[in-house]
Amino acid sequence: MLKIGTNFISMKKYKFYTLLSFCAVSVFILSASTNYYPLKDRQADSKFLTDTVKQLAWLAPESADSLKNPVAVSQESISKGEELYNMYCFSCHGDTGYGDGPAGGSMGVRPANFHDQKVMKQKDGALFWKLTNGKGNMPPFKEALTEEQRWQLIVFLRELGKTE
Ligand code: HEC
Repeated sequence: MLKIGTNFISMKKYKFYTLLSFCAVSVFILSASTNYYPLKDRQADSKFLTDTVKQLAWLAPESADSLKNPVAVSQESISKGEELYNMYCFSCHGDTGYGDGPAGGSMGVRPANFHDQKVMKQKDGALFWKLTNGKGNMPPFKEALTEEQRWQLIVFLRELGKTE
C-alpha cells in the first residue's frame, strides 16, 4: 500500500518537473525568437535600403556606360531625334527639356531636366539604358521605340542640353 503511494508521489513529482522544464524551455524559445532578427528579414531590410537609395539616385548599371552610340551626330539624326522627342517626351520633359512639361507637374519625382549636369554628365549608354528601361513615371521605351530611334533621341538630348 505504502509502496504504491510513494511511487504515485514520485510519479507526480516527475510529471511536475517535466512540465516545469517544458515551460522553461518554451519561455526561453519564445523570448529568443522574439529577440532574434532573422537573416531573411535583415536581407529584406538591406534590400529595402539599397532600393531606396537607388530610387533617390537613379543609377544605370556600370555595364551600360560602355555602350557606344552607333548613330552619328548629323543634321538628319538630330532632326529624327527631335521629331521623336516632340512625340514621346516633351509632355513630361518640356519642349525645351527643363523637365517642366504639362504632364510632369504632379509627379512625385520630377521628370529629368536635360540642362542639369547630373543628367548630362552621364554617358550616352547610361541615358540610353534609362530610356530603355524606365523607372516610376518614366516609361520604358524598349518596346515602343527601336534601338536606332532611342539612340537618335540620345543624340537629340545632347543638342537640347546645349541650348538655353
Ligand atoms: C510620363 C512622363 C514621361 C515621359 C513621357 C518621358 N519621361 Fe523621361 N522621365 C520622367 C521622369 C518622372 C523621370 C525621372 C525618373 C526618376 O528619376 O525616378 C524621367 C527620367 C528620364 C531620364 C533619366 C535622367 C536621369 O535622371 O539620369 C531620361 C534619359 C529620360 N527621362 C528620357 C526620356 C525620353 C528621351 C523620353 C521620350 C522618348 C521620355 N523620357 C519620356 C518622365 C517621363
